Amino acid sequence: MNILLLGSGGREHALAWKIAQSKHCEQLFIAPGNAGTLQCGKNINIGLNDFEAIKKFALENNIEMIVVGPEEPLVKGVYDFFANNDATKNIIIIGPSANGAQLEGSKAFSKKFMQRNNIPTAAYAEFTKDNFEEGKKYIQQHATPVVLKADGLAAGKGVVIATTTEDALNTFEEMIINQQFGEASSRVVIEEFLDGIELSVFALTNGNDYKVIGAAKDYKRIGVGDTGLNTGGMGCVSPLPFLTNAFMQKIETKIIQPTIQGLQKENIIYNGFIFFGLIKVGDEPFVIEYNCRMGDPETEVVMPRLKNDIVDLFLAVHNNTLKDIVIEFDERACATIVAVSEGYPADYEKGKVIEFDNSAIRQFDNSIVFHAGTKMNDKKDVLTNGGRVLAISSFGSNIADAVRLSKEVLKHICFEGMYFRDDIGYEFEVKSQN
Ligand code: AMP
Ligand code: GLY
Repeated sequence: MNILLLGSGGREHALAWKIAQSKHCEQLFIAPGNAGTLQCGKNINIGLNDFEAIKKFALENNIEMIVVGPEEPLVKGVYDFFANNDATKNIIIIGPSANGAQLEGSKAFSKKFMQRNNIPTAAYAEFTKDNFEEGKKYIQQHATPVVLKADGLAAGKGVVIATTTEDALNTFEEMIINQQFGEASSRVVIEEFLDGIELSVFALTNGNDYKVIGAAKDYKRIGVGDTGLNTGGMGCVSPLPFLTNAFMQKIETKIIQPTIQGLQKENIIYNGFIFFGLIKVGDEPFVIEYNCRMGDPETEVVMPRLKNDIVDLFLAVHNNTLKDIVIEFDERACATIVAVSEGYPADYEKGKVIEFDNSAIRQFDNSIVFHAGTKMNDKKDVLTNGGRVLAISSFGSNIADAVRLSKEVLKHICFEGMYFRDDIGYEFEVKSQN
């Protein structure tokens, strides 16, 4: 079948790499893609949110399946757009309806959903400018640290952990009164701070059934030792030594199953990935957030470790046969290290030439160079085109080995201002060289 993948990041290169290996895939198109996805299929120059253009392309190119990478088109209703149109309703869309995408698109929606379905999460309250004064009182009585979250999508920047009441009050005013994140922060969720270790768990579901397809730990801060600003993610490792069978069982019974049952009970159409952003407090899992898509850079370790044909899984979502599928994982550990532009996550320049020593890189059979923010110019140079530029994934007999291998590969890649964290997986015997 012909498949169209929407997106242009490292996540989409990893998805494209996996989809292109499927026995079902005849032609893969990526809109808009990056210089890496060119190795897996054909990039097409269509905007992610231009649903009319996507529809026209899909009909002209006999597309039978559309896999949606990022959250924005999902929150904007790409599923509903295709499902509610006679000409396109038979195209299989991998991604939830706009209603389902609210699990990520609105923090207030997801908190209420968790409350209704008895899913463990931090205690919270929500406020708008109409009850701003009440919100201030709530903060004054709240223990610190306290977490403030803009309700809507804020490009991963809408969460502030305030260590003092004064900070919390200032942030609250910035968000609600000064509209720091525009419309997204006109409603603010204030929640209890949970102290523990974070992990990302991924499932594919059709709202009836689900399969867990992987778990990973993401390193979100820019600096070595988890210091400095939050980023989209600087690296990931999988599997997680602390994710024992017993703890996974708890996650399934206390979080994943009630979530899927909640979707069913509430008639929420959901055919796609669900990303459980969890925190392990003591021996108990809590939901920090849901995302309605795969994680980035988590996908760059989850896809390499997943042995199943991914399109088989997508078809099982569509045909309601997930129960017949046995998920198989590569036993090896996988780590990815993200190389970013100088200045990221604040301002950075684009358009730097990336030099790859391909003859050296080809020797690394257990590594994959995924592209994130890259593009190819007319001269076939690969240029930086974003904050996160590349994600180097490697297999190893353990996490430390995998990380070491990705660092070896990185010695054969350079661009002006390239930076990466050399301590990804530091809790798991990886030593920083700094
Ligand atoms: P979110 O966008 O909800 O994933 O939040 C971004 C990051 O903020 C998370 O990955 C956590 O590191 C942190 N965070 C969010 N909520 C909490 C919480 N209730 N307690 C502790 N940390 C939190
Ligand atoms: N790496 C976290 C995310 O994709 O949201």
